[in-house]
Amino acid sequence: MERIFIFDTTLRDGEQVPGCQLNTTEKIEVAKRLELLGVDVIEAGFPVSSPGDFNSVVEISKAVANPTICALTRAVEKDIEVAAEALKFAKRGRIHTGIGTSEYHIKHKLKTTHEDIIQRAVHAVKHARNLVEEVEFYAEDAGRSDVEFLAKVVEAVIAAGATVINIPDTTGYCLPEQYGQKIKFLIDNVSNMDKAILSTHCHNDLGLATANTLAGIQNGARQVEVTINGIGERAGNTSLEEVVMAIKCHQDLAFDTQIDTKQILQTSKLVSSLMNMPVQANKAIVGRNAFAHSSGIHQDGVLKHRENYEIMDPKDVGVEESSIVLTARSGRAALKHRLHVLNFDFNKDEIDNIYEKFLEMADSKREVTDEDLLILIGDEINEQEKNYQLIDLAVESKKDKKPHAKVILKVFQKECTEESEGNGPVDAALNAIKKIIDIDTDIEEYLIQGVSHGSSDLCKVHISVLNKQTSVVKRGFSASTDIVEASVYAFIDAINKF
Ligand code: KIV
Ligand code: ZN
Repeated sequence: MERIFIFDTTLRDGEQVPGCQLNTTEKIEVAKRLELLGVDVIEAGFPVSSPGDFNSVVEISKAVANPTICALTRAVEKDIEVAAEALKFAKRGRIHTGIGTSEYHIKHKLKTTHEDIIQRAVHAVKHARNLVEEVEFYAEDAGRSDVEFLAKVVEAVIAAGATVINIPDTTGYCLPEQYGQKIKFLIDNVSNMDKAILSTHCHNDLGLATANTLAGIQNGARQVEVTINGIGERAGNTSLEEVVMAIKCHQDLAFDTQIDTKQILQTSKLVSSLMNMPVQANKAIVGRNAFAHSSGIHQDGVLKHRENYEIMDPKDVGVEESSIVLTARSGRAALKHRLHVLNFDFNKDEIDNIYEKFLEMADSKREVTDEDLLILIGDEINEQEKNYQLIDLAVESKKDKKPHAKVILKVFQKECTEESEGNGPVDAALNAIKKIIDIDTDIEEYLIQGVSHGSSDLCKVHISVLNKQTSVVKRGFSASTDIVEASVYAFIDAINKF
């Protein structure tokens, strides 16, 4: 197995995204998490950019022991000196200095010559080497740089003392094969390449950052620059979790990292919440849906044998278990499994019966939760015991007209129908029921509450009903996506208890 070094730049390339800024305390929290995760290098900031960044590099250097702490600079003496000063408490400090090498950068950004670029690069590396042990050089926009010129620069900065050479695809332009070829060209053509390792640093403008990074290591790079959740400039950087898990899943590549993959989810959550950057639901590895199965065919397959539809064990990335999301597309197998997890085992006929109600509910909401299921089977379990059962309910509610309800109840096996008006649709329906039943009741308390969020979700109704003849109060409960139906069922639930 060849070791791949993980260089995390969440706190530098990730943190420079607008809205993602962290204070020093938060950065220390993230850095400690990255240490727990097992990254080899933490790029802690760009010290010359602000006193806050300087201070963060100082404090992270003090707080973190195992990973190398890296500070970014331009190929400018002042930047390098400030970075060295910020790193003075680091057990192992690294300066990451560099300059643009593409024609765009040389002509239109730095407005200089190729010779000057090499001279500045060499000078920066030498200056940094006088101040810290480890120097990494980045050739900005290497992805669009002429490979022959890039090789000259790389050779010169290795000769000047750089031991890690970063080949950034700054604009996320390369295709995997092109990026891989660039790395291979350097390995094959730079005479002193054995004195340094190559590092990938890929941006995700074309959604190819992970693919490019993998192409990089397959062609000889031995360090990867990544961020948690793939955050970073524009479309982001290569995501740590994707590269690490690709390496882990593909043992055939014969690469290895020191990452404790079980820490991935917690690290992702910490970064997402501190940086106010929600993780998209379908994000590989750490998205909410990464281990959620929703179609009936997949659910059935996963329940038969997890690996039918999963290439990694969710526990390996810190996810407790894969989830079977119950929706209108779920089958009986998934429903039965979920009920079993909730400690309810039903025979085939009972499952058929519950499944019918389940589909009705699933059609009216996006997802059927455990709470919904308990409500469903609560109905199923109680069905036989009820003296009063709702057969049908029709409510009419129009603007400027009193709501009207028609209710059909089965009362001790006999069907009874009544109609009534009310102050609102719920009142009208309950008035109709009151006309049918032989108990004189008053509603003492009526509580209605949404279960989660959104107008398509379930609402719960709790109701307290007084039997005026006996002064006994009974509580009823129900839930439905229909407020009137939930209220009627809750009321019937209470009167069945008298
Ligand atoms: O994308 C890039 O080129 C960078 C360098 C500063 C390393 O982030
Ligand atoms: Zn970058």
